[in-house]
Amino acid sequence: MFFAIIVAAGKGERVNSVVPKQYLPLLGKPVLAHTLDVFERSPWIGEIIVVINSLHEEMFKKEVWEKYGYRKIKKCVSGGETRQDSVYCGVRELKDRGADFVLIHDGVRPLVDDKILARCVEAVVKFEAACCALPCADTIKLSLDGEIIDETLNRQKIWRAQTPQAFRISLIWEALEKAKEEGFQGTDDSALVERMGKPVRLVLGSEDNLKITTPQDLILAEELLRWRKK
Ligand code: CTP
Ligand code: MG
Repeated sequence: MFFAIIVAAGKGERVNSVVPKQYLPLLGKPVLAHTLDVFERSPWIGEIIVVINSLHEEMFKKEVWEKYGYRKIKKCVSGGETRQDSVYCGVRELKDRGADFVLIHDGVRPLVDDKILARCVEAVVKFEAACCALPCADTIKLSLDGEIIDETLNRQKIWRAQTPQAFRISLIWEALEKAKEEGFQGTDDSALVERMGKPVRLVLGSEDNLKITTPQDLILAEELLRWRKK
């Protein structure tokens, strides 16, 4: 069985709007609802857990869950201070389903699509851990002081991580518990599994699958959605 955890408990500080970015509209529908549509419709996904900020519980229930009638959402749970804490809260709900798999996805990546979910599902069954990512088009420079370049990295070895990232539930739970015990904060879920020395398989994401981070991203995401609907 494939579960999905959609993390949507952030404050969206970089967008800086009164309503947090996951609830802002794209073509009249909240960002988070666009994201949930993809998982609700996917034949791969059996159940969805949404992680929200308890301050937004009413807004989530009224403007998203009830309004669009998602049947695969079994539960919404409160998140934590950091994204990793929020993922922890979501996976805790599933930890007794250790033999199954979970796809963890950012609520603010509404342009994910079913082909990406299919690639994650295929990879996680074979490899236990999979991370959506894209090759890097820009040349990447390393600078230790932010002023002088120390090194030009080999771009062919650089990948930009996205979500979903998919795991056997027992594996990501072990990784989350270990990170918590050791006070390690990663910037994605895969990093927690990597630091246990376990291989994580790269899976091709997509250029469209952007994370809404700044106000400009909202404009871009809306255009991409409009273009998709044509
Ligand atoms: N997230 C979460 N819990 C947190 C922080 C983030 O569930 N404590 C979620 C966000 O809601 C988002 C995803 O993780 O869906 C990616 O995080 P990011 O883009 O950083 O969102 P925010 O933290 O909300 O934005 P910002 O960093 O600008 O405040
Ligand atoms: Mg953040």
